[in-house]
Amino acid sequence: MLLVLFLSALGFTDAQNSFTVNGFTGTSGEIVVNSETGSSIFFWQFNAMNGNISTDTRPLVIWTGGGPGCSSEIGLLIEGIAPIQIDSSGNPINNPSSWHIRTHILAIDFPYDTGFSITNDPSEIQNTTSGAVQYLYTFLAKLATQYPSWFGRDIYWFGEDYSGHFIPAIASLILQNNQIQGNPIIKLKGIGLGSPWISAIDQMQYYDISASYIGLLSPSQRNSIWNVQSQLFSSISRKNYTGAFSNWQTLIQMMWNYTGVSMYNVRTTSNQTYQNLYYYLNQPSVKKNILNVPSSAIWNACNSQIFNSFASDAMQPITTPIIISLLSQIKVLIYRGMDDIYTNELGIHMWLVGLPWSNAIDFTETRRSTWSVQGNVAGYVQTGFNLTYVQVFGAGHEVGINQPYALRDLAFRFMFNQGWN
Ligand SMILES: *[C@@H]1O[C@H](CO)[C@@H](O)[C@H](O)[C@H]1NC(C)=O
Ligand SMILES: *[C@@H]1O[C@H](CO)[C@@H](O)[C@H](O)[C@H]1NC(C)=O
Ligand SMILES: *[C@@H]1O[C@H](CO)[C@@H](O)[C@H](O)[C@H]1NC(C)=O
Ligand SMILES: *[C@@H]1O[C@H](CO)[C@@H](O)[C@H](O)[C@H]1NC(C)=O
Ligand SMILES: *[C@@H]1O[C@H](CO)[C@@H](O)[C@H](O)[C@H]1NC(C)=O
Ligand SMILES: *[C@@H]1O[C@H](CO)[C@@H](O)[C@H](O)[C@H]1NC(C)=O
Repeated sequence: MLLVLFLSALGFTDAQNSFTVNGFTGTSGEIVVNSETGSSIFFWQFNAMNGNISTDTRPLVIWTGGGPGCSSEIGLLIEGIAPIQIDSSGNPINNPSSWHIRTHILAIDFPYDTGFSITNDPSEIQNTTSGAVQYLYTFLAKLATQYPSWFGRDIYWFGEDYSGHFIPAIASLILQNNQIQGNPIIKLKGIGLGSPWISAIDQMQYYDISASYIGLLSPSQRNSIWNVQSQLFSSISRKNYTGAFSNWQTLIQMMWNYTGVSMYNVRTTSNQTYQNLYYYLNQPSVKKNILNVPSSAIWNACNSQIFNSFASDAMQPITTPIIISLLSQIKVLIYRGMDDIYTNELGIHMWLVGLPWSNAIDFTETRRSTWSVQGNVAGYVQTGFNLTYVQVFGAGHEVGINQPYALRDLAFRFMFNQGWN
């Protein structure tokens, strides 16, 4: 069944279709968000095991990637979320850690010019979180019109890295718009922020300590890093956000130069590559039969122009008040891998300690405990009052690359209120 909707006289079309890959079913394609320009957002939905999103009420997990500018297909296919993964020769194989055993899955390439999502008119490109989530909401509303059954079930929105900015903002917009008559009701119950970029001023002050406490920096290197951190701090304090961003890029490059170790995972010396994904996602037959995107579409893992365009947004303290307001309305999960320096424990810890919400003291007094997966300690958890913070052993920034079962376990415990013991 091919659904083709002519949305305007100009003839820009949505193209979606159902697909089957390795026996797994779902719907994928592009939704035209702006019918005057044809700018579109790509989505890829997988049905839950023995489920059908058109007819059942199983929960839906929405996934968005980081960057900003990195495709959600990274999480889907490399971090063990989708029922398939891509082997080193670029072929789809079954993924034993898939989340579809209990939930439907919907990955969205966001913002525009990320993965398979495209703008046709430069004036539509937004370089702020608050600007970009407006068209993300338009996309969701169009998707809900097309597939009314999708959003009336419990929905959890997960993502990583820069999704720490995007998800709270879209969650807040959804909850507001749910109150307005005529909008689709999107039954959002919780958000999960993996290795999140939430608050630059808090998260950027601890690279020196985090790296030297694990033995990675010499005292003089630590001093040099501290110096750049101080510049960064004063740039942010003076609201010189693009200056702060450039200090930060310098700092990250210095860490590489000093250590040769990845800030995203201190147990590795290489950068993550996505060759198998490039190969698979750009194959004409895959685009045609599985993704339902035009043959001319080109998939890239990350778009550095988009990354750079959010320079100022990345440094601004916009997300903290949004999270405070969400905490009285939905469940909020924050998780990170313990081998990640980029979004390190101290930065998130200090942000949490200073978070001015109604249950701040009760939460910070809540003791941390271990949490186990199949009898083995998988990490630490602190939970109370709609807020849960989990740290995962043996994982870097992209937690599911290293610990896909622990990631699924923590996501399920959070969504299904299973407790942590
Ligand atoms: C899901 O249910 C719809 C409506 O009954 C049906 O058209 C569709 O084929 C089903 N999809 C799958 C994958 O079974
Ligand atoms: C902002 O910070 C950058 C980098 O530190 C610096 O080069 C620039 O002069 C600063 N701009 C202003 C207006 O202070
Ligand atoms: C890192 O090393 C490269 C190559 O030696 C050099 O060009 C660059 O300036 C260094 N960057 C920083 C921030 O130290
Ligand atoms: C990984 O990326 C960083 C930053 O671009 C670079 O400095 C470093 O040399 C890269 N490492 C490897 C092993 O390619
Ligand atoms: C963001 O976009 C505005 C115009 O919409 C532009 O003035 C600004 O320079 C952009 N910021 C960055 C960091 O590219
Ligand atoms: C937690 O969220 C629920 C909605 O899921 C809400 O009813 C409750 O008031 C919130 N709890 C607190 C302490 O804000």
